[in-house]
Amino acid sequence: MAFIDIIAAKKSGKALTEAQIDEFARAAADPGTPDYQLAALLMAIRINGMDARETAQLTLAMAKTGDMLSPEVGGVPVDKHSTGGVGDTTTLILAPLVAACGGKVVKMSGRGLGHTGGTVDKLESIPGFRTELPEAEFLRIAREVGCCVVGQSGELAPADKRLYALRDVTSTVDSIPLIASSIMSKKLAGGAQGIVLDVKVGSGALMKTLEDCLALARAMTDIGRRAGRRMAALITGMDEPLGSHVGNALEVKEAIDTLAGRSQGPLLAVSLALGAQMLLLGGVAKDEPGARGLLEAALREGRGLERLRRMIEAQGGDGRVCDDTGLLPQAEKATPVLAPQSGYLARMDTEQAGLAAQALGAGRLTKDDVIDPAAGYILFKRVGDYLREGEPVAELRHAAKAPSGEAARMLRDSLRFSDTPPHIPPLIRARIAPDGKETQ
Ligand code: URA
Ligand code: CA
Repeated sequence: MAFIDIIAAKKSGKALTEAQIDEFARAAADPGTPDYQLAALLMAIRINGMDARETAQLTLAMAKTGDMLSPEVGGVPVDKHSTGGVGDTTTLILAPLVAACGGKVVKMSGRGLGHTGGTVDKLESIPGFRTELPEAEFLRIAREVGCCVVGQSGELAPADKRLYALRDVTSTVDSIPLIASSIMSKKLAGGAQGIVLDVKVGSGALMKTLEDCLALARAMTDIGRRAGRRMAALITGMDEPLGSHVGNALEVKEAIDTLAGRSQGPLLAVSLALGAQMLLLGGVAKDEPGARGLLEAALREGRGLERLRRMIEAQGGDGRVCDDTGLLPQAEKATPVLAPQSGYLARMDTEQAGLAAQALGAGRLTKDDVIDPAAGYILFKRVGDYLREGEPVAELRHAAKAPSGEAARMLRDSLRFSDTPPHIPPLIRARIAPDGKETQ
């Protein structure tokens, strides 16, 4: 089959056949295929789209270009995927809580890029913690502890790796079939039988509108169901950082404080909502109130924190951080950020707030940047709070040589004020239940 004929078919708006889609995925994983042919087809897909059948076939074909895991973990393996946000450390809270309720969490996470954080970077701030494990060890820990979180191996969906890099430089990232197939190819290859999606909406999210987020969530849950997996999705707000701590070790600390019962708020609320879906998909609970009851009991009894400690120790890390978060990397300097005016905090440009943490060294702009695990900030205020001019809104944590003035300016500039209390939309904007039913 000539690749040019596949490009020509999509250029003229035709749906691709299964054989054409298989050839596209195979060619993407073949270093001998020229970039320009793949890029031309990506642009034709970006412009003319793909239907649900094509998208699902492309996803499975991309997954099959690499390893396909089928985890034997003594239960239904479940996973969660977030489209990325700021101060979002739900994985470190829900994975041990779900495990403490009898679920089996097998999770392959990514690193942070741009304004968003990544779970792998957060975990690596724990002294000794290993995010690269041989597959057998990964599965043994998931079986024995109930949760294991590792980085994504290069053998997972290699076609996606090539296509994602090309999309980045050809203005073809913003395509729902391409985003959905990219994310889901890695999830299907990871072998989870139940997958919960957290699609973020708002100023710090990949997609800014509820309609786009719902379309992406529908596309991804449809792909998963066609591949025989159990799926659920929540659309959750990312109009301000989810937790009060932003930065790798700082977010680990907030996760520990949450599991220890010392911290509540939107971060815990979203963790419990996603965790409940995981228990439903994993067959541990029969209905949502039952699932929430299990999670809340595990939290109250400290069993989530105990699971996190076991997971950290099983993965080579120092479990004592669960008792003493002072053992996590600590920054040299603390610099307050003061409110530039009085008023209600009405909105935040959350992408800008994420970039402020990145500027301090908490994240990377290119894959080769080195991060500072201790860098980031703690927010003292949330959207809806009233602030007086000159009052501290946040405290930056950073190395002496970090550009703290620049980061403080970026964080201050991300704040929008008003004289009247702002309308605060619900944290969970919409959901797609395991039976496919949508609610808003
Ligand atoms: N994350 C991915 O893995 N792929 C996309 O296309 C977008 C976000
Ligand atoms: Ca095939």
